[in-house]
Amino acid sequence: MSPTELRTKVSGKEGRNWVRQGLLLVALSWQVVAGQSQELTANANGAVLFNTYCAACHLLKQKQVGPSLIEIAAIHKDNPQGIVDWAMNPGKKRPDTIQMPPMNYVGADNLKSIADYILSTTEGMEMSDIEVSEETVTSIEKPARPRVQRVFMPDAGPASVAVALPGSISYCWDAGSCSLRYFWQGDFIDAWPVWKGNGNGLSRILGEREFETSDVSPFHINGQLAESSKFLGYRLRNGSPEFHYELDGVRFREWIQPLPNDGGIRLIFETDGVGESLVWKPEGRESENLLAGYKIESNRGSAVDGGGWKWNAAEARFFHITIKTPQQEFAVGPFDE
Ligand code: HEC
Repeated sequence: MSPTELRTKVSGKEGRNWVRQGLLLVALSWQVVAGQSQELTANANGAVLFNTYCAACHLLKQKQVGPSLIEIAAIHKDNPQGIVDWAMNPGKKRPDTIQMPPMNYVGADNLKSIADYILSTTEGMEMSDIEVSEETVTSIEKPARPRVQRVFMPDAGPASVAVALPGSISYCWDAGSCSLRYFWQGDFIDAWPVWKGNGNGLSRILGEREFETSDVSPFHINGQLAESSKFLGYRLRNGSPEFHYELDGVRFREWIQPLPNDGGIRLIFETDGVGESLVWKPEGRESENLLAGYKIESNRGSAVDGGGWKWNAAEARFFHITIKTPQQEFAVGPFDE
């Protein structure tokens, strides 16, 4: 079976159960998100937290699994604490939907920022602004991209983030090793198993995994494989996360964007400088080379033997890495049997 056929098959499973599609559940506390607040205003922080923990089930104007933010704001007008209390310990009110899972692991302070964000973003809106249309159903099955979810992902560290990019590519980024672990094409994720298992299950990827790397950072700084990684948080740039982290004391910013026609992804890096050189040389996850066939390019620097790229001190301040999927290179050819 060709990879293309496989893909179609996997993504064809999507419409199983719309409630499940909506349940992209975030299972544990993620203090690092809160830790980034020095870099963000209080309100932007509320938006980031809302996006990470609540947006899977709550839209601004439409019902999606849970009520719209307009409805929530109408119930808890001038009362952010009411939103916090509900989220810590949700009741069962609406007969036509599931019970909301408790969000106490997000923490009362973070929930307060989220509540303030919900009330400020809906200011001036009325119940009559709520949209009820065919689109409500569509948006449940095909959620607006991009999306960021903090979830347990297969073959990645416990502090992983799943991100849906514009188009049909999504990726898994590991906040433990501070590196991309894999990407896939198709639909996003089904986190129902995580939720059902009280945080013990793994999300299911709705597509075929691509470019699977090992659990160590692919960066070598001044000739040494980076040993320590420290995740500092992320901010949203055009709706996609820009990750901030340190590798052996060097600060990195990493922003991932899709290539045209879903032909792969581009990693856009900024660093605060290395003494001599920076090398990016990813290892595949298993002994079989899961990275073979991908075309790696950069806007500067030079290729290194065995697949990878190298930049000098000046080039290492700002550079791109482009990963093209094999399908881009061989539309018909060795991959089709
Ligand atoms: C897995 C889906 C899901 C997630 C994630 C989720 N909610 Fe909900 N939420 C629901 C559902 C479903 C309801 C309606 C439950 C009911 O009426 O019984 C609801 C209702 C609410 C209400 C209305 C309470 C009322 O008084 O009627 C508030 C407030 C709320 N959610 C806040 C939040 C916040 C804040 C977050 C993020 C920290 C969040 N929710 C995350 C599904 C979710």
